[in-house]
Amino acid sequence: MSDTTGKLLVDAIRLSNNARPPVWFMRQAGRYHSHYRALRKEHSFERICRTPALACEAALGPIRDFDFDAAILFSDILFILEAMGMDLAFSDAGPKLGRLLENAAAVARLRTGDAVIEKLSFQAEAARLVRRQLPPEKTLIGFAGAPLTLFFFAAAGSHKGEAVKRAVGIAASGALEPFLAVVSELLLDVMKMQADAGADVFALFDSCAGDIPEIQYSAMVMPALKKLISRFKSERPDTNVIYYAKGLSKSLLEEAALCGADCIGIDDTHDLPSVLISQEGKVSIQGNFSPQQMLLPPGVLEPVLRAWLARTQKVPASARKGWVCGLGHGVLPGVPEENVRLFLRLQRAVLGTC
Ligand code: CP3
Repeated sequence: MSDTTGKLLVDAIRLSNNARPPVWFMRQAGRYHSHYRALRKEHSFERICRTPALACEAALGPIRDFDFDAAILFSDILFILEAMGMDLAFSDAGPKLGRLLENAAAVARLRTGDAVIEKLSFQAEAARLVRRQLPPEKTLIGFAGAPLTLFFFAAAGSHKGEAVKRAVGIAASGALEPFLAVVSELLLDVMKMQADAGADVFALFDSCAGDIPEIQYSAMVMPALKKLISRFKSERPDTNVIYYAKGLSKSLLEEAALCGADCIGIDDTHDLPSVLISQEGKVSIQGNFSPQQMLLPPGVLEPVLRAWLARTQKVPASARKGWVCGLGHGVLPGVPEENVRLFLRLQRAVLGTC
């Protein structure tokens, strides 16, 4: 009897993939892709997200055009903040939150409970549609922002430049811990909602993991994350969890690897072969080709990509069973489609016989 599920991504996350490593990209449905740009000509980003048939079309476009091994729900991590009572608008300049969190007292005024989850039901509808149309061997990934990253956006509206200072200051003033508790309670329900609608795997994106002082990450962020993941896993044991942690030092990454997620997504500052070897048999690893290098002209990218794939092929097969192949962050808007096609073609050619 086989202990595999027939889904490459799920098998890899469960450390039991003996076939080619699965591949998917964060932001695989995005502005680099002519299919997405055509949808955006007709509709706003928000309308695509909130209209299940359009969100389904956006999620399936990259599967049809590039044959990724997984589709990711088309949505955004910030809708939960809007449902909690913070104004949100998306423009070409990016998302903008109308009112930002000032202190712990403001956390207590945020909306909570079932009413928040009901406002996010468009995500479940979209997930249901995608799962129905996706071939059975492909995985559907549901997602949300990790508690800390949602704090950064709630407190500072962004995680770039001055915003980081503002968020770190508000965290230190005592607002972080209560926010993590309130948002985790809601995230648990969002995770269950998407899993029940057909998400095979759930990704928590912690794009701001490296932006908080390490001591607070260990003392506050990790315990909240561990609690959330363990509650989810005890209630939905068949749905695996990916934790994407951007910007962590080597030692914090080792700590994050123990958060209870089945797979840890790493950024491109880490040496993938070393991480795969050190985590063999413990946790699945996702990553981590450089998103910036995906902007190179195809002729320059090809040898770089071949060298990267060849290095991972030198990793013992036992340590590669848990590898999810992808980028260290999202696909950037200017990446040529030809490069995405090249990545998938070479990935299959070089690693196809693993
Ligand atoms: O294909 C996919 O990966 C699915 C959809 C997806 C989006 N956002 C769609 C999107 C996912 C997984 C996200 C996650 C997300 N959203 C994160 C975590 C991952 C990361 O990027 O670090 C964060 C921090 C956000 C918040 C957000 N949404 C920002 C900062 C921006 C503006 C900057 C940018 O990259 O465009 C968005 C807008 C957004 N979310 C777009 C898309 C396709 C662009 C919308 C458009 O203008 O058409």
